[in-house]
Amino acid sequence: MKILVATEKPFAKVAVDGIRKEIESAGYEPALLEKYTKKEQLLAAVSDADALIIRSDIVDAEVLDAAKRLKIVVRAGAGYDNIDLAAATSHNVVAMNTPGQNSNAVAELALGLMVYAVRNFYGGTSGTELMGKTLGIHAFGNVGRNVARIAKGFGMNVIAYDAYCPDDVMQAAGVEAVHSAEELYSRSNIVSLHIPATAETKNSINRALLSLMPEGGLLVNTARKEVINEEELIQLMQERTDIKYVTDIMPAADQKMQELFTGRYFSTPKKMGAQTAEANINAGIAAAKQIVDFFKTGNTRFKVN
Ligand code: 3PG
Repeated sequence: MKILVATEKPFAKVAVDGIRKEIESAGYEPALLEKYTKKEQLLAAVSDADALIIRSDIVDAEVLDAAKRLKIVVRAGAGYDNIDLAAATSHNVVAMNTPGQNSNAVAELALGLMVYAVRNFYGGTSGTELMGKTLGIHAFGNVGRNVARIAKGFGMNVIAYDAYCPDDVMQAAGVEAVHSAEELYSRSNIVSLHIPATAETKNSINRALLSLMPEGGLLVNTARKEVINEEELIQLMQERTDIKYVTDIMPAADQKMQELFTGRYFSTPKKMGAQTAEANINAGIAAAKQIVDFFKTGNTRFKVN
């Protein structure tokens, strides 16, 4: 049984070693494809794989066609918008994620981006503090909950909107539940995005919503670039010269935004929210364990298709 780890953006070495150990001690054969630059490399590597561990790597119908022996693909991470779920199902491939395993890493980066932005990108000019500001958490899943925990340590007033999360879950975390995105954006000095990219959320962060933010508003995106209506964000930032945008997912218009919004815009060069040894170990080993458990016992607990 061959288990392929295919990661264009590699895990930390310590995580790869742990994944390998997990696979070998179950009596299976590990294989590794890292930093690949062409889809053909992935297509060749999956041809004899029984299981596949990925990160943001694209698994579409073409990859599934090439993976003749594949029975399971596990996205070592939270968002599985990179897997064509319908194609996986039609190829009789089980798709899973590893929810929660990298969420603290992403949350820490979100707070780091906030400090960076309110301190004027560490340029030496006088900025502002997070203490006493209202933070709006858009979606209260695993990352949103960690962001709330850390933000409370900064002394922020934390509010959250999540249509799928009961109020008492937020209240138990010391977070005020609000009941519309409009209310969240109009009350928050800083909004931190934690919504998945789905048909419903794509392009949903638009000019109408962002224009509700108070003077000096900051939008922090450690979720997905697809949820932003980029054209409207640019329009809004042109009209509202007080608004700042910091993101861990480089926008298509990165170059243009750098030129237009100097001092108000920052993107990491490559998504790095989950790029910590701890998150790599947690998510990578969880993925390996889920695969072993699936083959040994048929457990499909984290199946998403
Ligand atoms: C996730 O959905 O888990 C995060 O976006 C991390 O993605 P990555 O594994 O590609 O860094």
